[in-house]
Amino acid sequence: MEQKIIIFDTTLRDGEQSLQVSLNVKQKLQIAFALEKLGVDIMEVGFPISSPGDFESVHTIAQKIKNSCICGLARCIDKDIDVAAEALKIASNFRIHIFLGTSNLHIQSKLKKNFKQIVEMAIYAIKYARKYTDDVEFSCEDAGRTQIDNLCYIVEAAIKAGAKTINIPDTVGYTIPCQFKKIIKTLYNRVPVIDQAIISVHCHDDLGMAVGNSITAIQAGARQIEGTINGIGERAGNTALEEVIMAIKIHKPLLKAYTNIKHQEIYRTSQIISQLCNVPIPINKAIVGNNAFSHSSGIHQDGVLKNRKNYEIIEPSSIGVQEAKFNLTSRSGRAAVKHHMNKMGYQDSDYDMNKLYEVFLKLADKKGQVFDYDLEALAFINNQEEQPEYFHLEYYNIQSRSFNLAVASVKLKCGNTTHSKSATGNGPIAAIYEALNNITGLSINLEKYQLTSKGHGRDALGQVDVVVTYKKRCFHGVGLAIDIIESSTKAMVNALNNIWLVQQVEIKRQKLQYNNKNIISGK
Ligand code: KIV
Ligand code: ZN
Repeated sequence: MEQKIIIFDTTLRDGEQSLQVSLNVKQKLQIAFALEKLGVDIMEVGFPISSPGDFESVHTIAQKIKNSCICGLARCIDKDIDVAAEALKIASNFRIHIFLGTSNLHIQSKLKKNFKQIVEMAIYAIKYARKYTDDVEFSCEDAGRTQIDNLCYIVEAAIKAGAKTINIPDTVGYTIPCQFKKIIKTLYNRVPVIDQAIISVHCHDDLGMAVGNSITAIQAGARQIEGTINGIGERAGNTALEEVIMAIKIHKPLLKAYTNIKHQEIYRTSQIISQLCNVPIPINKAIVGNNAFSHSSGIHQDGVLKNRKNYEIIEPSSIGVQEAKFNLTSRSGRAAVKHHMNKMGYQDSDYDMNKLYEVFLKLADKKGQVFDYDLEALAFINNQEEQPEYFHLEYYNIQSRSFNLAVASVKLKCGNTTHSKSATGNGPIAAIYEALNNITGLSINLEKYQLTSKGHGRDALGQVDVVVTYKKRCFHGVGLAIDIIESSTKAMVNALNNIWLVQQVEIKRQKLQYNNKNIISGK
């Protein structure tokens, strides 16, 4: 029979406590709504005793979230438990999570107690928390380094005291999968009352084993997995829940397990959390990284075009990503170039593949990544790596003072004529972009702006990468200069030139269609 794995999300507690800037109540609530939509069974949303702000956010989330159980953390201290219960009690369904160090290291050097006292504290706190709810979870902090006899002993005592969930954290990410599996198996073999509680695991990623340890724990009998979205959390982070969830889905027959997660929400939730927490997702991060569904080498791209399953184990749409991407680089083969042209609606007979591929490789060597509009320009405007530039920045001037709108004047060469316009904006770059919009009359949206320092110290150059949308199509622009206002302006002018090239392709296409029609009708 397949076992349900309970997904316990601690993004708003273990994840949030690791952020450089704490989240405010509104941001936490936004994340809680996303997690609820994702379908997490339990969300741990804070440590109410830790600050009035944490109390308020736990309380607000407890009030608003209806479909997940809301959990708050507490030490084995009466006041902690009282405050947690106070913050949580408005929830339709809540849990109190109590933790206490059980390894000799924690007991002696952190808590300055002996093991017997630790067991007494745990029993007392669990019974105390049970006054407020039946749903009490007890965590043996640093279980990964706790002597196994002690761990079995305290787990048995905690269950007998009334804990319904026993969490086994590898707090410092010390264990590797065979060791962690053995810990869980031993608990099942040696604790007589083990069936009266759910066994949970909570792994940290100091050795990069958190997901592996969690999966192996499922095989040993664990029924609850704790972690965070994108793996954010103390030091190297927590178990990345999206990875565990997808591993359970892909290996359902082997693990004989399932979750109630709505997989299509994974990508969206991951993006919201990355943006609100200001923690970028590594490009190669499993499941949700930008490259997780991108194919780069010619052999892979060709293989995917023949049958996606050659190089994809997860359908992008199953986690809410529209489709896999093909990066067009100098490693791409003809199949990928042809695929991009087809996707833009071109037939093989519309262009000369040999010529296009030859110049594509030259451009890719020079530019790194080639975009679909670059291919169009190569095929239909100019069969050279250097494309004509319609827009050319001649001059700009900025006036910007604190607490005032910035004013920008820009002179832009458009073909053979030069135009000047001024505009205001919240900052100098916004003002310049507005002035450029006024000159070109193109209604474009700035989707992404990224400033990167190239080089070291005062001589570093500022590189600006922008992504804009125009008529539902994405265009990139890049600008490099010592002055970041100049690089920002150049990046936008570069994007405008890419838009202009596509407009020229469109004009050519329309002319061609018109001529073809006339030939057919004999005009
Ligand atoms: O890592 C840990 O041990 C914890 C506990 C509070 C569960 O976060
Ligand atoms: Zn933790």
